[in-house]
Amino acid sequence: MRIAIYPGSFDPPTFGHLDIVKRATTLFDKVIVAVGNNTSKGGFLSVTEREEALRAATSGMATVEIASFNGLLVEYCRERGAEFIVRGLRAVTDFDTEFQMSITNRQLEPGIDTVLLMTKWEFGFISSTLVREVAQLGGDLTKFVPEEVLPVIQMVLKNRAR
Ligand code: PNS
Repeated sequence: MRIAIYPGSFDPPTFGHLDIVKRATTLFDKVIVAVGNNTSKGGFLSVTEREEALRAATSGMATVEIASFNGLLVEYCRERGAEFIVRGLRAVTDFDTEFQMSITNRQLEPGIDTVLLMTKWEFGFISSTLVREVAQLGGDLTKFVPEEVLPVIQMVLKNRAR
């Protein structure tokens, strides 16, 4: 059984993330999409809201599980029996960070390999940072995030406006 973990902040999940999840399901028997619970980062959506949004957007994908993790990613991979980490690459600018992360993770745990998937070109410009900005300024998000993610964002914005 080839298990992969696709870790990330997913704040919020975008079409780019969903594309990587879909393609990872064709490569692995099981894909665990894991929200990193990094308490030092504030966050737009809570970890639970990100999980909820991811669960809604991947509801039709039988081999996908949504989860969250604390601490080291390689420890979580060991716990879950995953030998692969999946990450998406949008542009050359992502490569440096991803390369560093993959080498660091491999130093920590040589039994785990990172698989980098190039994003579809039409999603190459989407970033969660910009999506958060557009959301907070009331812009239209339909070109950036899956429709299942929209209600979660709308609910958060509504609660904040109160
Ligand atoms: O979507 P992001 O913000 O690029 O995701 C970053 C994430 C969550 C994958 C990364 O911060 C991570 O793996 N955090 C867990 C802590 C850890 O293992 N750090 C060493 C990895 S090099």
